[in-house]
Amino acid sequence: MRLERLRTLHRVDPLGIDQPPEFSWNIAAVAANTRQATYQVTVRDGTRTVWDSGIVPSRKQSFVEYEGPPMTARTAYQWSVQVEDNHGAVATASACFETALLDDDWAGRWVQSTIPRPAPGADWGHGTQPPAVQFVRAFRLRAPVRRARLYATALGAYRPLLNGARLDDRELAPEFSVYRSRLYYQTYDVTGLLCAGANELSLYVGDGWYFCPATRPLAADEPRTVPAILYELDVRYADGSSEIIASDGTEICRTGPVRSSDLFWGERYDATVPFGEPHPVEVVDLGYTHLVAQPIDPIRPVELLPARRVYTTIDGDTIVDFGQIVAGRARAWIDAPAGTEVIFDHFETTTADGGYFNGTYAGQRDVYVSDGSPQLYEPLFTFHGFRYLRVSGLPVVRTEGFTAVLLTTPKERTGHFECSDPALTRLHQNVLWSQRNNMMSIPTDCPTREKAGFTGDIQIYTPAAFANEDLTAFLTAWLANLAAEQARHGTVPMTVPFTPPYERLTLTMSAQHGTHGVAGIAGWSDAAVLVPWEMYRATGNTVVLRESWASMSAWGDSVLATARNERGGLPEDLDRHLWNTGFHFGEWLIPSQRQRGGDFEICAESAAYVAPFFGYRSVRLLADIAELLGYPDERARYAAHATAMRDAIHQVFMSDVELPTQLMGAYVLAFAFDLVPAERWQPYAERLVALIEANGGLLDTGFLATPFLLDVLVRIGRADLAVALLWERRQPSWLYQVDMGATAIWENWDAVAPDGTPGTSSLDHYAFGCVDDWICREVAGIRAAIPGYEHTIIAPRTEIGLSWCNRSLLTEFGLLSVRWTQEELEVVIPCNTTATVYWRGERYSIGSGTHLF
Ligand code: BGC
Repeated sequence: MRLERLRTLHRVDPLGIDQPPEFSWNIAAVAANTRQATYQVTVRDGTRTVWDSGIVPSRKQSFVEYEGPPMTARTAYQWSVQVEDNHGAVATASACFETALLDDDWAGRWVQSTIPRPAPGADWGHGTQPPAVQFVRAFRLRAPVRRARLYATALGAYRPLLNGARLDDRELAPEFSVYRSRLYYQTYDVTGLLCAGANELSLYVGDGWYFCPATRPLAADEPRTVPAILYELDVRYADGSSEIIASDGTEICRTGPVRSSDLFWGERYDATVPFGEPHPVEVVDLGYTHLVAQPIDPIRPVELLPARRVYTTIDGDTIVDFGQIVAGRARAWIDAPAGTEVIFDHFETTTADGGYFNGTYAGQRDVYVSDGSPQLYEPLFTFHGFRYLRVSGLPVVRTEGFTAVLLTTPKERTGHFECSDPALTRLHQNVLWSQRNNMMSIPTDCPTREKAGFTGDIQIYTPAAFANEDLTAFLTAWLANLAAEQARHGTVPMTVPFTPPYERLTLTMSAQHGTHGVAGIAGWSDAAVLVPWEMYRATGNTVVLRESWASMSAWGDSVLATARNERGGLPEDLDRHLWNTGFHFGEWLIPSQRQRGGDFEICAESAAYVAPFFGYRSVRLLADIAELLGYPDERARYAAHATAMRDAIHQVFMSDVELPTQLMGAYVLAFAFDLVPAERWQPYAERLVALIEANGGLLDTGFLATPFLLDVLVRIGRADLAVALLWERRQPSWLYQVDMGATAIWENWDAVAPDGTPGTSSLDHYAFGCVDDWICREVAGIRAAIPGYEHTIIAPRTEIGLSWCNRSLLTEFGLLSVRWTQEELEVVIPCNTTATVYWRGERYSIGSGTHLF
C-alpha cells in the first residue's frame, strides 16, 4: 500500500497561499478491498511540528482541514500523512506548501505610471488602446542569495522579468477577479535569477482585464485609469541575513514595442519601436486589504498545436488552419523586411467555401511590425478563440512557421472516454476542448465574443466539468468572486466578475420588466447554490458548502424576498411563494423559439416556468444543504418555504393534465426538480414524449433544460428515446455538430447550417456539453451512489449501440474505470470505496481493486 496524489487546497505543493489548507491523498494498494482504517496528518515548518491531527479512525482522505494554530507568513511548510489500512499495512507520504503574506503586511507601495493616456472607453473597445507600460527598478544585492521570493501584482496584465529573464511561463497575471475586493497577487520563486551586485526587475503591464472596456471594474468601483504595480522582493542571503526590495517610487516607467493591447481586439507589436524615454512613477495609495494570494494555478501555455495546413481562398486570402478551435494565441515565425506590417486575423470557422469569416464583433487581430530581424512572435497581453488565422503581409507563409498555443488555467485531468463510435468519441473531445478553452482564470461563456463569467453557463456545466478535470480550486476561487459581487449587489449578477456591459444590460432589462437595480436571473443567479452543490456531489466537498453557506443562503433569501414582495399578478396567497417577476433569460436558446424572434423577446414564455421552478430548486437544496451542515433551524425554515413554493407551483401550473406551456423544457424541469405530483406523472410523461414525437423526434430544449432531458426520459421509462436523441444526427443534435466538423461545442444548435454557412453564434461554448456527464453515467455506467464516489453504481448501457466503451474517472479516492465490450466488463474501483455492479442481469457488491466480469 502506498499514498499518492497528495494535494494541498487541491493543488500540488502550492507556493504562496493565504488560506488555511485542506489536505487530500489517494491510497494505492495491491491488495483488494483496501480501506483506510486511520490517518494521521502532521504539519511542520522545517523543524517544529505545528499541527498533529493525532491518529484519526476515519476513511476521510480528502478535504482534511488544517486545525493547527494560525500559519506564519512567508513560511515553507511540510506535511505528512500516515495511513493504516484495514489489512494492517502502513504507509506515509509528504508534500509541502508555502504561505504568502498573510496580514496585508506589505512593505511595497503602489506606484503608477505618469505617462498620459486616455481613459478607457465605455464600450467594447475598438482596438486602439494605449501602449503597454514597462516599470523598471535597478537594485543591488550585497551577497549571494540563498532563497528569494517575489510577491507582485498590477492593475493591468503584467509580465515580470528579472535580469532580462522570465520568472516562469505564466501569462496574464494577475488574472481576472473582482478587483475591488479580490485582486490576486502572485508569488514567484526567483532564487536562481538573482546575483550579488547589480540586478534589474521589470514589470511590463498591458491592459489586461482591468483596462479593457468590456471587462474593467464597474464605474462605481472607481477604476483607476493608469497602470500601476506593487511588488516586494524578499531576499534571504546565504549568511542568514535578509533584505526586502519593494516598490517605493524609485522605479521608472516607459513605453515600448507593445503599442496597443486589448483582450478582444488584439495586440499591436511594433518591433521597430524600442523602449523609450524614462518617465517618473508616482506613489499612490491603492490599499492592500483587497489583495488575495492567487488561489488557483496560473494561466499557462498548456498545449501547443502545430499548424495543419496553409491554403489560399478564392478571395486570395492566406489561411493557416490549426485543425482545432483553441483559446490562446498563435505563435508565428516572422521573416519580413523592416517596416513590414504583418496582420493576423483569428477566427473560428470559415465561410462554406473556406473563406475568412469573423462571426463575432471582437476584432481578434494581432499586428506585428517587423524590424527586419527574423522573430518568433506571440502577443503578450491578449488571447483569442480561433482555429484559423488569416495572415496578411508576410512574404512567405509556411505551415511549419505557425503554432497555436492553448492558454488556460491548468487543472488535473480526471476523465477519459473513448468508444467504438468515432463521432461519440469526438463529441467527448469537443466537450473537453470547450472546457479547457473557457477556463482561463474564471469559467467563461466563450473565448471570443464575450469572455465573460456567465453564472448560468457554469451552473449548467459543472457536473460534466468534474467528469473531466478537477475544478475544486478553480471553482472555489470563482465562488469567492461570486460572493464578493453578491455582497455589493445584494443579489447574484448574470456574470462574475460583473462588468460594465452586463451591468448596462441588467439595468435595461430590469427597467423594462418593472424591477430596479441589479436583479437576479433564474438559472443564472442560482449558480450561487447549484455550483457548490454540484461540487459537493462530484467530490464530497463539504468545505465548499460550509464556506459558501452565507452566499447561497443570501441568494435563497433574496429569491424568497422577491417572491414575497413583488406582485406577479396572481392571488396573493400563491403569488407570495412564486418567483414570477423580473427579467429572465428563460431556458435560453430553445431552437423553436429562436425561429420566432430576437433573443430577449422570446425569453418570456419559458421564463414563466423557469423562474418559479429554479427558485424552488434553490430553496429546496438549501434545506438539504443545511441538513448536511447541521443547521437544523435553517433546514426547517427552507424546507417550509420549499413546501409552500411547491404547493403554489402545483396549484398554478399543475392543476391540469397539461402544463400551461407546451415547451419540452417545462416538463423536463418539472420532472427533474421532483415537482410532478403523483397523479400527473403519467400524463406529463406522455405529453413530453408526444412533444418530442411531434417535433419529428428532435429535442427542443435550451440551456437550462437540456442537462436534464436525457435523464428525465430514462426516469419516465423512455430510455430508448434518450438514446435516440443521443444518436440523432439531424439538427438540432449533438452529433449534427460533430458531423459538421465541430472541434468544440457550439453555443447554439444551429450555429452552422447544413450547407456549411456559419451564423454569428460562438462555436466554443461548453453549456450544451453537459451531455458528457450523461454519457459518463449512462453509457459508461458510472454513477456516484454517495457524493464523491465513496460508493459507486456501475451499470453500463451495453445495448446503446456500441461494441466497446472505455471511461475513466479520477475521483477524490483515486482512479475509477470501466471498460466494457459486448462480452466482458472490467471495472477498477479505487481504494477506500465500494461499488455495486449490474451486469448481464446480475448484481455484484465489490470493493477496491480490478474486477473482471
Ligand atoms: C452568452 C451566454 C449567456 C447568455 C445569457 C450570451 O451572450 O454567450 O452563454 O449565458 O448570453 O444571456
